Amino acid sequence: METPTPGDRARGLAAESLASDDPTGWFERLYGDGDLTVPWHQDGPDPHLKGWAEAKKLDGVGQTALVVGAGLGDDAEFVAGLGFATTAFDVAPSAVERARQRFPASTVRYEVADLLNLPAGWRFDLVVENFTVQSLPVGLRKEAIAAVARAVAPGGTLIVHATYRDPAVERPGPPWPLTREDVDGFGLNPVTVTLIPEPGHPHLGTWQAEFTA
Ligand SMILES: C[S@@+](CC[C@H](N)C(=O)[O-])C[C@H]1O[C@@H](n2cnc3c(N)ncnc32)[C@H](O)[C@@H]1O
Repeated sequence: METPTPGDRARGLAAESLASDDPTGWFERLYGDGDLTVPWHQDGPDPHLKGWAEAKKLDGVGQTALVVGAGLGDDAEFVAGLGFATTAFDVAPSAVERARQRFPASTVRYEVADLLNLPAGWRFDLVVENFTVQSLPVGLRKEAIAAVARAVAPGGTLIVHATYRDPAVERPGPPWPLTREDVDGFGLNPVTVTLIPEPGHPHLGTWQAEFTA
């Protein structure tokens, strides 16, 4: 019998959570289990986010940023390094705890919060949504997308990265990849919407979408 991959384990935990009508409970089980590799974790910032910020020569001095579903903190640390006063949140307390432990000297404010129930006043000059909406079941998608868009301050910027998969080769989630319609659903003013192809995988890609509010 083949050994389950970290992705298989995560999908198993997700299935158990979804069966008990708890669409986010599996994240805490995943991050809280020290023996389990977090399948999406990459040491260092997401290369797409880094490339986007560098191409724009993004300078966050004097501005605020919010990192959605921040996991173990690598993207939040990158954003803070650009000068933004950065808040980063995750629904899983163990992820937040591990991020704080990984970056003890960090200036990032790491918080436990649920995207679907954010503090009413949260508005930021930059909002980074990297691969969190796609980790929630499709039934919660509109609500999740609206919550991300609401967190952008007037005149602010939203950057979204999300998985695309050709619907013809769809398979059970997570993740539940985003369609072009989903990306348009953030409802702010689009600056660029690009589908970055995945080398060697003609059915896969990454959405990179930048909006202003
Ligand atoms: C696929 S992971 C992506 C993590 C990180 N953004 C990255 O790109 O590596 C999705 C993350 O979103 C968090 N998450 C899922 N649903 C959430 C919610 N409703 N509110 C806040 N965080 C959530 C999970 O705990 C997890 O850390």
